[in-house]
Amino acid sequence: PYPLYAELRKTPVALQEDGSYVISTYRELTGILHNPHLSSDVRNLSRPIPGAEERGTPSFINIDPPEHDRLRRLAMRPFGPPHTPGLVTGMEPDLTAIVSGLIDDFAGKERIDIVDDFAYPFPVTVICHLLGVPREDEPRFHLWVNAIIDLLAYDPKTDPKEKLDNGIQASKDLRQYLGGLLEQRHGRPGDDLLTRLANDDGPDGRMTDEEIVSTANLLLIAGHETTVNLITNGTLTLLRHPQVLQRLRNEPDLIVPLVEELLRYEPPVHMIPWRAAYSDITVADTVIPKGSQIMLMLASGSRDPDRFHDPDRFDPDRQDNQHLGFGSGIHLCFGGPLARLETQIALNELVRRLDRPRLVTDPPPYRPSPVLRGPIHLHIEQS
Ligand code: HEM
Repeated sequence: PYPLYAELRKTPVALQEDGSYVISTYRELTGILHNPHLSSDVRNLSRPIPGAEERGTPSFINIDPPEHDRLRRLAMRPFGPPHTPGLVTGMEPDLTAIVSGLIDDFAGKERIDIVDDFAYPFPVTVICHLLGVPREDEPRFHLWVNAIIDLLAYDPKTDPKEKLDNGIQASKDLRQYLGGLLEQRHGRPGDDLLTRLANDDGPDGRMTDEEIVSTANLLLIAGHETTVNLITNGTLTLLRHPQVLQRLRNEPDLIVPLVEELLRYEPPVHMIPWRAAYSDITVADTVIPKGSQIMLMLASGSRDPDRFHDPDRFDPDRQDNQHLGFGSGIHLCFGGPLARLETQIALNELVRRLDRPRLVTDPPPYRPSPVLRGPIHLHIEQS
């Protein structure tokens, strides 16, 4: 039940020793996420992100309006505007086929690692296909992506400098690799995102090559690690709630509210560590001075008892489930429809096809990150 978050919520806006602020309650989090004086620009931070400068042009997740809005609009065009058919429409049969193939490969294995054998290869295959990145190159950029994600939790006081150097080098390698792919896409026909970003003119014109590389970088990383964790956290949560698992077997439509509840109860993104105050911001009677760094504890907000009844209960029938799993405000995740569909299909197929699955170790080992939460491995056995 995350006792640390319960403790944090006693002080909704807490000043840390290093001068940064931690926000942990639902009302204050949603309020500040919609505040135009909250900046995502890493260049505004009082405590700079290690390696941020060396890692090249930031992608729009780390940029403020108006540039953020222009790049986001261009990047999300293929995804479709909210509530109208977009990228995910019609993807269900292909996604189901990928998932079925992975589960077929479980046959004859005594022990399955849900992460390596299932939750990782599935969304990675999908995002590579969408972007137009050859799947066979995956082993190369798997290492780069891991080194970049490790940087999210880099602490210069305790971590070896090697970790920082590895992350910076990995960012450069990944950018160079994506830049190489992009070069081949100019003036060529094709439906993949890289080709479309390179060639389609929108109302805002086109992105520069540098912007396309930053965007592809963001989509590749966002499409990699988060969905993996949602599928893994979902498998773990179902195995810990056998009655819900049994219900899902009989009622496959339950998967839609169930995945929403997962995004609230065991979200892949626990916090956003790098926001800054453009000017003084008042939250819950506390003035956060201009220039301060602000950490947003999204997972704590989604467990706030002032907003969610009995928040530590996993309840797929929960009504009015406006969790913070995809953030909120102008940076709200636009991969949500894709991530939801992938997770719905993955969990439904697993539950349908696994025969009396059992966890080998509970709790499983976790990635040591305060930002992204999910097991490194999740071993299960079945009859
Ligand atoms: C932003 C979560 C999957 C693309 C975000 C944010 C969160 C989030 C919390 C807000 C970050 C902020 O406010 O600074 C998740 C989770 C996912 C997921 C939990 C899976 C379960 C995806 C996928 C894609 C994607 C599959 C792309 C294909 C993005 C992009 C942004 C974003 C581009 C930045 C939006 C902006 O800055 O305007 N995501 N995400 N995400 N996500 Fe996701």
